[in-house]
Amino acid sequence: MEIRRGIIASLMTMNPKQDLILARLGGSSMPVSGDLLADELGLSRAGIWKHIQSLRKQGIEIESHPGRGYRLKSDVLSPAMLRRHLGDTVIGSECMVLEEIDSTNREAMRLGESGAKEGLVIIANRQTTGRGRLGRSWHTEAHDSLAMSILLRPNISPEKVPQLSLLTAVALHKALSHFATDIGIKWPNDMLHNGGKIAGILTEMRAEPGQVHAVVIGIGVNIRKPSDGWPKEITQQVTDLSTAAGKDMNRLDVALAIIRAMEISYREYLADGFAPVREKWWQAHAASGQQVRAHGGTGYIEGVAEALDEDGALLLNVDGQLQRFIAGDIELMGKNTMGSER
Ligand code: BTN
Repeated sequence: MEIRRGIIASLMTMNPKQDLILARLGGSSMPVSGDLLADELGLSRAGIWKHIQSLRKQGIEIESHPGRGYRLKSDVLSPAMLRRHLGDTVIGSECMVLEEIDSTNREAMRLGESGAKEGLVIIANRQTTGRGRLGRSWHTEAHDSLAMSILLRPNISPEKVPQLSLLTAVALHKALSHFATDIGIKWPNDMLHNGGKIAGILTEMRAEPGQVHAVVIGIGVNIRKPSDGWPKEITQQVTDLSTAAGKDMNRLDVALAIIRAMEISYREYLADGFAPVREKWWQAHAASGQQVRAHGGTGYIEGVAEALDEDGALLLNVDGQLQRFIAGDIELMGKNTMGSER
């Protein structure tokens, strides 16, 4: 029931003209004039004004700038807003925005199993049971964080799927670095800023031996600190992109930057393989060549991060011996940069 409700809610909120008005206002930092909107949408100025009033009644904040036009203030998203800014990309060729869902990764997998095309992007305003790595939960409350999943159908063997998480880390690092400096990757694919986690990636797949049917890449980005603070279950250091950027960010700009960066990285990976991804990942990794503590299921080991292998394992130099570390979290020694439980 939850799933249906999510989909229906997102469809019901928008009248097609209002959807177009939002798509036109979204992504523009400058006001858009009423005359221009009226021309583009084939409506009168009064018609535009009525739709703007109706959008405001739905809780969407739109500023009026006398003599200049309208500017969207709320962080709202719609498929039309995304599609308007994406060209002929595979990723984002179809976009869905849901009001509420259990988890965008689950929904993308369900749709993947019923034949959805590669490149489908699903974004939810709220996830009721969002998931993180290592069985953790991931909170996504109204509009404060970007919860996005991408469906891929790569022609690679299942063993190579972890490479897609690292590829996504490279793309996400590039996308977030458009908005803030000093973003670093922390193995395997957390994004950090000043020691706080700003974003994470959860990759899941459906496969049989030798064949991948569907891969879902889930990306969660903390866009802004929730007005009532971070949920108390989050015990470790966490931050958000607006703080890192020094200005209020919106999910549309961030989602578009991620989709574009993913499109480039994914194409390069399919054409050139993992080696260039590994190189870029290593450059962006905050702990390359540094002393780390690697926490696995049963304890931890300490060593110097020496390299990343083909399977995405971190190679640690522990007293002159190389050890592979494949699952868990790392902590940078000497800095308070332990991965958060988000
Ligand atoms: C982590 O760092 O633990 C990974 C977090 C991944 C969260 C995202 S939000 C969108 C997608 N849907 C989910 O349920 N999880 C991922």
